Amino acid sequence: MIILLLGCSGFIGSHLLTRLLKKDNYRIFGWDLESKKIDHFLPSKNFYFTQADVLAKDSFESLKKQITDVDMVINLAAICNPAMYNTRPLDVIKSNFLDVHQIVDLCATHGKWLIHASTSEIYGRTLSSYYNDNYADKSLYILKEDQTPLVMGPIRNQRWSYACAKQLLERYIYAHHYENSLDFTIIRPLNFFGPEMDYIPGIEGDGTPRVLACFLGALLNNEPMYLVDGGRARRTITSIHDAIDAIEKIIERPGVSKNKIYNIGNVNNEVSMKELAEKMRSIFAKLYDNADYLNHPIEEMDSKIFYGEGYEDCDRRMPDISLAMNDLDWSPKILINDILEETIRYYLKKHNKL
Ligand code: UGA
Repeated sequence: MIILLLGCSGFIGSHLLTRLLKKDNYRIFGWDLESKKIDHFLPSKNFYFTQADVLAKDSFESLKKQITDVDMVINLAAICNPAMYNTRPLDVIKSNFLDVHQIVDLCATHGKWLIHASTSEIYGRTLSSYYNDNYADKSLYILKEDQTPLVMGPIRNQRWSYACAKQLLERYIYAHHYENSLDFTIIRPLNFFGPEMDYIPGIEGDGTPRVLACFLGALLNNEPMYLVDGGRARRTITSIHDAIDAIEKIIERPGVSKNKIYNIGNVNNEVSMKELAEKMRSIFAKLYDNADYLNHPIEEMDSKIFYGEGYEDCDRRMPDISLAMNDLDWSPKILINDILEETIRYYLKKHNKL
């Protein structure tokens, strides 16, 4: 099987590559802007890497040639950092819709199956949050791929620039399916966590990554962990390994997985951000063998200060994953404490603290 993998050095891409290259039946043409997370794979006989922006004129021409040889295209390239949604909305819209729609066109022209990583963020806020019913009615917050309305806030709340661009791309893919018989599979990830997610702020880069890296950075740099708007938002955390199991099964079962949209998440791992911060500091204290971290400072911060104007939060993301479970014979297995323990241990080792 020959795969064109766009974004092969990102968080999901590097884990997927690790899995697929263990098997002999995959040949991967990988593209990314850099190769930091996958340098060790560059000599592999089944891996052909191009370091370039696929949409630059020359690159796009060679992509067009390469695509004729592959069985499928997996697109994992995206800007998915909430701190940018309200501060760099043009880049976010451009990279998540205007740029990528050309890849979708290419797949349609050449009749290639497109497996595309979208986002659970396209559900927006739950209906429960507008009704203020304290999540009494499950039908107002459980997220079902083909039934739940996609609810986004007003235009001035630029947080939704990302969700809106990703939603439009899903609609674009589906329109190509409808009008041009494009085969597609859309994945909606629910907070995949694991080693090499984002970067540790203050150590591996600057700025504000997603919550796992923010909290880890706070622990490693001895700074407070900040709970945005009280840390009430709830997320279901999914191990990257469970997520890769699901993606591998999607690849291996085209008979059922083509032309479907899948939530990939773990409903057993729901936490508020406050609970997440508390869990992370206690696991950090245990692994680092330093009880002081049990009292590591956790402080609340207004989202306007943390992210700036125009930030609005998804209140809760509880997916219905029955479609993925039934079609793919898959179920997520790794519980939140184990996910956090693996990830924290990885970073403690990486930064010579263990
Ligand atoms: C992000 C992306 O927008 C999604 O596309 C992506 O699917 C998702 O991550 C994911 O990882 O699957 P979100 O869950 O809002 O969505 O991203 P985070 O930045 O990890 O934020 C989670 C929650 O933690 C938010 O409520 C945020 O306000 C809060 N947070 C973040 C804190 O309380 N403290 C921090 O230091 C950082």
